[in-house]
Amino acid sequence: MMKIHIMLFFSIQILLHVSLSSSGKVPAIIVFGDSSVDSGNNNFIPTIARSNFEPYGRDFPNGNPTGRFSNGRIAPDFISEAFGIKPIVPAYLDPSYDISDFASGVCFASAGTGFDNVTASVAEVIPLWKEVEYYKEYQNKLRAKFGDKKANEIINESLYLISIGTNDFLENYYQRFERRTQFSVQEYEDFLIGLAENFLREIYGLGARKISMTGLIPMGCLPLERAINIFGHHGCKDLYNDVALEFNAKLDWLVAKLNKELYGFQLVYTNAYDLVLQIVTQPSQFGFENAQVGCCGTGRFEMGFMCDPKSPFTCTDANKYVFWDAFHPSERTSQIVSNYLMENYLGKFL
Ligand SMILES: *[C@@H]1O[C@H](CO)[C@@H](O)[C@H](O)[C@H]1NC(C)=O
Ligand SMILES: *[C@@H]1O[C@H](CO)[C@@H](O)[C@H](O)[C@H]1NC(C)=O
Repeated sequence: MMKIHIMLFFSIQILLHVSLSSSGKVPAIIVFGDSSVDSGNNNFIPTIARSNFEPYGRDFPNGNPTGRFSNGRIAPDFISEAFGIKPIVPAYLDPSYDISDFASGVCFASAGTGFDNVTASVAEVIPLWKEVEYYKEYQNKLRAKFGDKKANEIINESLYLISIGTNDFLENYYQRFERRTQFSVQEYEDFLIGLAENFLREIYGLGARKISMTGLIPMGCLPLERAINIFGHHGCKDLYNDVALEFNAKLDWLVAKLNKELYGFQLVYTNAYDLVLQIVTQPSQFGFENAQVGCCGTGRFEMGFMCDPKSPFTCTDANKYVFWDAFHPSERTSQIVSNYLMENYLGKFL
């Protein structure tokens, strides 16, 4: 009896192994985007869009403020861990890591950036085209270190996480005149979709195949937007949520179009909007006590350097807060969203 069990166990193992290797296991998580996914690149460029000081990172291993805009880890870290790779995805510009580390995960994202070059120029952060330049440099380092065959495998079998676009609307279009005088908001959405298309075609051309393109979250519900929504009694700003929905529909359409057109492309549109809206409107269902303000400071305005380590208002338990600062989710929210994305969209790459 026991022998049969053991035999069965081994043949299942072999079957699993065969099916896993033929479907191409993901060797690395490769990240492009903004502060929602930046693991600390901005620490190494001259910008004020930073978070490498307390109280950021206070729930990160060793309480390290890494430059993540969070009290702990962010979504790519959780997704990397779920793929059985590593529990953190290091920033490309961090000199304490090298190409051997980056071979199993690397982040090119930069807080404050957007699809639009003008957005990156607001806080002098890394524009998306420059993230792609770093990615090309990374490919060269991979080839030099591991040879063409292994490098190509990492490039074409890895999962690419893209999360970007909020700043184009909230830090650029609605804050500054330049783009508003050129485009209606619908025209600006179309302009950004065109830039997204160019970007996706470019990384496809460079070998990327498995890609998660995350849509916008209900950005009118970010604590900062609620704080300044005085006439809306500090509720979510409907205009911004409507723009997010409109933009997401266009992004979804773009993803379908490119999948049809580009051979072997496995581009996935990942919708985090609905879940985040549910968390914000029914926080207690997810174990949260506060969805209106962030944990840091008063929670209404503070982010980046405004998030003062000595503020007496900062909450003691960030796990009870949907948002960590006025613009970014807490670690726990990131974990819940990551689990949801794994279950609903990314599990097929496991
Ligand atoms: C953004 O800037 C880069 C580098 O200067 C340039 O190549 C690219 O065309 C610009 N994109 C747009 C849409 O202006
Ligand atoms: C990925 O690269 C490897 C190694 O060069 C190659 O064998 C494989 O066919 C490539 N897969 C795709 C999907 O391009």
